[in-house]
Amino acid sequence: MRSCWVIYNGSLLSDKFKDQAVLVGEAAERAGIRAVLKKNYEVMIDLASPITARPDFVVFLDKDILLASYLKQNGIPVFNDPEVIETCDNKAKQYIKLAKAGIPMPATIIAPKVYPNFTIRQSGYYETVLEHLGLPLIIKEGHGSFGMKVYLIETEEDFYAKVEELRGIDYVFQQFIASSRGRDVRVNIVGGEIVAAMYRSSETDFRANITNGGVASIIELTEEQKTIALQAAEAVGAEFAGVDLLFGENENPLVCEVNAAAHIRNIYNVTGINVADKMIEYIVGKLT
Ligand SMILES: Nc1ncnc2c1ncn2[C@@H]1O[C@H](COP(=O)(O)OP(=O)(O)O)[C@@H](O)[C@H]1O
Ligand SMILES: [Mg+2]
Repeated sequence: MRSCWVIYNGSLLSDKFKDQAVLVGEAAERAGIRAVLKKNYEVMIDLASPITARPDFVVFLDKDILLASYLKQNGIPVFNDPEVIETCDNKAKQYIKLAKAGIPMPATIIAPKVYPNFTIRQSGYYETVLEHLGLPLIIKEGHGSFGMKVYLIETEEDFYAKVEELRGIDYVFQQFIASSRGRDVRVNIVGGEIVAAMYRSSETDFRANITNGGVASIIELTEEQKTIALQAAEAVGAEFAGVDLLFGENENPLVCEVNAAAHIRNIYNVTGINVADKMIEYIVGKLT
């Protein structure tokens, strides 16, 4: 019998992470694969000892990139590929790839590295950013989920306070897409195919994330939304992807971000589609 590990982060307190692993584990079992759910720290990266009870593959729902690379280096197929997880885990990194592939997205400037004890406040750099993007603008940290590290900056005062606060952290400046305020689309992709999509909207916040108060509903994607979502997943190399799309001018889609380990509970509740089954089906197809 085939076996797999489903790895999720063991330090986060929210039940969401375990829940996502349970969905994937159940899908594996339905497909006749023995699934073992593991917290990332339950796999000891002891470089002197071989990995015991090796699984046939790993579904990696965490961002513990060192663990993912370690498993891959030991010859275990890891999904998504650790490099993809790393790209997607850093929004700056993924925007560089999306831009290279010509994917439509909001105007984006990657913030320069500034060491925490230093400042480039007097250099004129930030004034140029303001000239390019105008206010309001978005500041988005490289590492962040559920909208928690995405800021709508409305005043110069807030802008300068935020850039000083973020010294030492990867982040980007981004054009605020006002036509998409409080609404976006989540598209789940598995192996180059769209398997589910939902519309998310919030009455209370510019961010549409459900965790942040957004409400989800079913949406019929336009051909353009489909094409751009698929192109975005491909541009970062993601076999599994949750692509967020914004509504630009004339409702034209713009890519907001690509998630490598998109949560699949909400989209299951809204659409009745269990993305986990598609993920397992895809892996089995790839490994045979
Ligand atoms: N440039 C933007 N213009 C308008 N809204 C945005 C922009 N970027 C992000 N948002 C909103 O903020 C939400 C969170 O941003 P996102 O980049 O997806 O980060 P997270 O990883 O936290 O979900 C998006 O779902 C969208 O509703
Ligand atoms: Mg998002």
